[in-house]
Amino acid sequence: MTNYSVVTNDRYRLNYHVMAPSGWINDPNGFSFFKGYYHIFYQYHPESAVWGPMHWGHARSKDLVHWENLPIALFPGDEEDQDGCFSGSAIVKDDRLYLMYTGHNLHDKNNPDDYWQNQNIAVSDDGIHFTKCQDNPVIAEPPTDNAADFRDPKVRFENGKWLVVIGSKDQQGLGRVLQYQSTDLKNWTYVGPLATAESADTQGFVWECPDLFKLAGQDILIMSPQGIKPQELKYRNLFQTIYLLGTVDSATQQLNYHEFRELDHGHDFYAPQSMLAPDGRRILFGWMDMWESDMPEQADGWAGALTFPRELHLNGDKLCMTPVQEIAQLREHLLVDEADLQAKYCFATPTKSVEYLGEFDTTAAVEVKVTDTDDQVLVGLRFDPEKQKLILEKYNDDLPREVAVTKIDDIHLLLDKSSVELFVNNGEVCFSERIYDEKDFYIETSSDAERFSIKAYQLGKGVFINE
Ligand code: FRU
Repeated sequence: MTNYSVVTNDRYRLNYHVMAPSGWINDPNGFSFFKGYYHIFYQYHPESAVWGPMHWGHARSKDLVHWENLPIALFPGDEEDQDGCFSGSAIVKDDRLYLMYTGHNLHDKNNPDDYWQNQNIAVSDDGIHFTKCQDNPVIAEPPTDNAADFRDPKVRFENGKWLVVIGSKDQQGLGRVLQYQSTDLKNWTYVGPLATAESADTQGFVWECPDLFKLAGQDILIMSPQGIKPQELKYRNLFQTIYLLGTVDSATQQLNYHEFRELDHGHDFYAPQSMLAPDGRRILFGWMDMWESDMPEQADGWAGALTFPRELHLNGDKLCMTPVQEIAQLREHLLVDEADLQAKYCFATPTKSVEYLGEFDTTAAVEVKVTDTDDQVLVGLRFDPEKQKLILEKYNDDLPREVAVTKIDDIHLLLDKSSVELFVNNGEVCFSERIYDEKDFYIETSSDAERFSIKAYQLGKGVFINE
């Protein structure tokens, strides 16, 4: 019997972002489309607002914006997943929905650092009830040159076979991604490492949650390394999410890539996962939090949320993210529609559920701030034309996030009750932030641009239609 955590206060509950009904969540898992519904699962501890033995929570949606909570899809505790059903992915095969996930097992229940991990399959006919496969674990152990870290399988179908990338760490303490292949999802052959960190300090000691896909003819690997040390403007969070853009060599099956780049520059973004939508879009959810950060909603019986779903696209060699167009279905009415603004414009944000679209097209200074009724700046984004930098400041952190930028075309901002997501220059630079403040909010824009325009919509409730 699951003893569910209880939400005792809704002050920070989000209006249109995926959350669990109560309890703790982290990574998005199993993002897929099956029998007319998008499915999103997430790492879930239903019994309290802190991380614990991982379950898979579950929600589905026909339109990516109105979500329906479903029963827990995976419970830990079987022989192969005694201490957790860790992250993984979903694929559709023969009209059934398959989940591939990591079994987490402790050698000694008192020592969380002494574990083994394996890969498992569960299957469903209706997309709601899942049965773990009798052949589990389908990959019992990592290759011999690997450490115990061996998790987060992301499966795809390519050239007539199933391929899976798995996050891991080698025996030298370097993060890496491994590949396996299969024709039936049950028997897997090791292909080899797809990519490995050059050093733990510069590229990480474990690469978690890998996701390999093609976009506009490029091979892209997104993964979440732990342990990268801050370098000048970069890597200012505890952990990062990185993308590598290049080509997988068909002979060696290794990824030749150009550069290590952060996918989102905000404080609260980790372990994202993408899927190919039926209409060909590549859509991604991230966990909109960070390990070890303060999460004041824990006092209210829950913790953690997913980002608004984002469409991925390439601009040259930059991977960009923009909110999915379905956001239009949440627009209740226009709050602001101003075309010829100068200097400064400020407006209140009723219900704290607002989509803001600013058009600037300028190389002059721009600043967009979310403030409260006491003039406390919760999140302030500033383009400094002299420094040629975009600078994000946040009320509870002294270390700004900074990104090199030469002009501001547009800023798209999504405000919810305890989150702000910013997409600059058609999603070329993004910041995901959780904010906790019970006062009312304003959005204030100032700019030296000759003219700028702002549109803002009040958004309705997306999640959860059955809460
Ligand atoms: C990433 C992660 C994964 C793991 C899961 C456990 O945030 O550490 O590597 O599968 O969380 O909840």
